[in-house]
Amino acid sequence: LRLALIGYGNAGRAFARLVKRKRGEFPFLIVGIHTARHGTAYDAAGIPLDPVFGPAAKSIDEFLDRAESDAVVEITTLNPATGEPAISHIRAAFARRRHVITANKGPIAHAYSDLAEEAQGAGVQFRFESTVMDGVPVFNMVRNNLPGVKILGFAGALNSTSKVVIAAMREGKSMQHGINAARRLGITEADSSYDIDGWDSAAKSAALANVFLDARITPLSVDRRGIGRLTTERVRELARSRKTVCLVSRAHVGPAGIKVRVRAEVLDDTDPLAAFTGTSNLLVIHTDLMGSIAAAGIDCGVEQTAYGLFSDAVDIARGSAILRP
Ligand SMILES: NC(=O)c1ccc[n+]([C@@H]2O[C@H](COP(=O)([O-])OP(=O)(O)OC[C@H]3O[C@@H](n4cnc5c(N)ncnc54)[C@H](OP(=O)(O)O)[C@@H]3O)[C@@H](O)[C@H]2O)c1
Repeated sequence: LRLALIGYGNAGRAFARLVKRKRGEFPFLIVGIHTARHGTAYDAAGIPLDPVFGPAAKSIDEFLDRAESDAVVEITTLNPATGEPAISHIRAAFARRRHVITANKGPIAHAYSDLAEEAQGAGVQFRFESTVMDGVPVFNMVRNNLPGVKILGFAGALNSTSKVVIAAMREGKSMQHGINAARRLGITEADSSYDIDGWDSAAKSAALANVFLDARITPLSVDRRGIGRLTTERVRELARSRKTVCLVSRAHVGPAGIKVRVRAEVLDDTDPLAAFTGTSNLLVIHTDLMGSIAAAGIDCGVEQTAYGLFSDAVDIARGSAILRP
C-alpha cells in the first residue's frame, strides 16, 4: 500500500516508525510527505524516517499528483473551528480516487456525513480510528464487530488535560498549576482553553455523534460547559465526600432528536467514568442489542495514535487485496 502523508509532526513520525518496524509483515511504503513549513519529500521507493525535504509543493493538488499513492494519510494540525484545510485535503484525495486515513478529528466533527458519501461515490475507503481515543478500536469495533446493532447514545470521559488539572486541584494546587503539569506531559493543545472550556470534548462528541448516530452536527452545536469556573476549594470539598468532577461527553437519541452535551459532572470516585485518570480514557456505548459496552485506553499516547492509523491502513490494504483478509 503506497501512502502519501500530509503532515509529519508527532503523529506522522510515530506512524512512519511503526510502518518501518512492521515492514516485514505489512508491505506499506511512504512515497510522499507534505508539510506546512518543512517542505515536501517524494520517493517512489520509500522515504526514510528522517526525510530530506525539498521545496514545498505549491498546492495539495500538486503534491497528490506527484506522490502517486493508494491512500492519503491526513495528519495536519487540528482546526477545531472549521476542520479546514484538512477537509479540503481529504476531498482532493477523493477526487483522485485515493483512500483516506486521518487522525484529525476536525473533518469528522465538521463534515463526516458529506465526506463519507463522497468516499462512497469515489469508491474508496475513509478511515479515522485515531480521531477519538488515540487508536483504541472504537469506530472499528462498531463497524466490524457489532453488525445489526443500533447505537442509542454514549458517555465518555475523553479529555486528558482536564483529568490532569482536576487531579492537581484535588492535591490543593491551582488550575494553572494543573495546566502546566498537563503541558509538561505534552497532552495540552497550544491554547489550553480549548481543553478547559470543553472544545476538545465537544469536537470528540460531535465526531462520535456524527459517526454513530448520524447526527450531522458540528462542535458548535454541542451543548458545552467546561471546567473554567471550577475552584480548588470546591474540588477539595467534593474529595472529602469521595466525589470528583469529570468532564463528561454524553449523547442520546430521544423523542426530541439527538442531544449531545459536554459537562463538568460531579461523580462518585468509584464511577467508571471517574476511574480512568490522566491519559486513560473510557467510552461507554449504549446499544439496542448489546446493552452498554465500553472501550478503554490505558495511558494512551502518540504511539497508539500511530497504531490507529496503521490499523486503518491494514484494513484498506485487505479491502484492496494488497493483503490477505
Ligand atoms: N499527537 C497525538 O497524540 C494525537 C492524537 C490523536 C489525534 N491527533 C491528531 O493528529 C493530527 C496531527 O497531530 P500531531 O501531534 O502530529 O501535530 P503536529 O506535531 O503539530 O504536526 C502537524 C503537522 O502538520 C503539518 N501541517 C500543518 N498544517 C499543514 C498544511 N496546511 N499543509 C500541510 N501540512 C500541514 C505541520 O507541518 P510543519 O512540520 O512544517 O509545521 C506538521 O508536520 C492533529 O489533527 C491531531 O489532533 C494527534
